[in-house]
Amino acid sequence: MSLLEVAGLGVRSADGRDLISDLSFTVDAGTRFGLIGESGSGKSLTALAIMGLLPPGMTASGSVTLDVPGRGRTEIVGAGERLLNRLRGRTTSVVFQEPLTALDPLMRIGHQVAEPLRRAQGLRGRALKTAVTAALEEVRLAEPDRIARAYPHEISGGQRQRVAIAMALACRPALLIADEPTTALDVTVQAEILALLDGLVSAHSMALLFIGHDLAVVSGITDHVLILKDGKAVESGAVLDVVNAPRHPYARELVGSARELDAALDRLGEGERS
Ligand SMILES: Nc1ncnc2c1ncn2[C@@H]1O[C@H](COP(=O)(O)OP(=O)(O)OP(=O)(O)O)[C@@H](O)[C@H]1O
Ligand SMILES: [Mg+2]
Repeated sequence: MSLLEVAGLGVRSADGRDLISDLSFTVDAGTRFGLIGESGSGKSLTALAIMGLLPPGMTASGSVTLDVPGRGRTEIVGAGERLLNRLRGRTTSVVFQEPLTALDPLMRIGHQVAEPLRRAQGLRGRALKTAVTAALEEVRLAEPDRIARAYPHEISGGQRQRVAIAMALACRPALLIADEPTTALDVTVQAEILALLDGLVSAHSMALLFIGHDLAVVSGITDHVLILKDGKAVESGAVLDVVNAPRHPYARELVGSARELDAALDRLGEGERS
């Protein structure tokens, strides 16, 4: 049974525009699925629909179900806030593009990381403090005690994204959704954060729904991909199949530009060596 099953998902704006139409895909436990598309194609709305976090006025149709331990298949579309709150963080968790959106600017990092640990695991006092340090160490933050005492604006963008990942993982979700988690970061920091996510997802046998606009990045970290254009799936399949034999013109375009970039990087590398 799939962990996540999106079936005929539609999302309509308050003024009646179809932003996502008839979108279907499944993610099995412990597997990695990539969602690729240009800006405005509906990637973030898909993530929000799965979390039950669509902006006010937007309506979802179709079905999004999760396999929840002890509860069986659970429908997210139309679910009440109480149920959604129980699932958030434990069954599904999300890391956004801009880490500041996940963080409260007026609260020290340590208190923010403590919050999900306190709520989900009932930790208090010393045990809670130890768990916060461990959570910050797990995302490879050197000096976890200094970071815990800092406010979000006192640490770097890369460090903030590590903190956001620590918070998302605090309750050991079965499915981690990463919505362009590295787009706002410098190129070198991007690679570090990707490697960190890759390692953590494997270490905890989580499923990953990775969202991005760059085919090279997404195909590097996932095994199946779906290409989204104007809110519709234009192609999906195993990464190797899509990369080696893209069928839809837009998919071909994506593969073509990824290849061009690759070739350009090769030429640069050769230039450096000669
Ligand atoms: N709160 C909102 N109200 C109205 N329309 C919205 C809202 N959020 C998104 N949209 C529209 O829905 C469509 C899909 O948006 P979405 O944020 O899912 O795109 P995306 O693929 O994540 O793009 P990006 O790569 O830029 O993050 C866009 O046309 C966008 O303008
Ligand atoms: Mg987005």
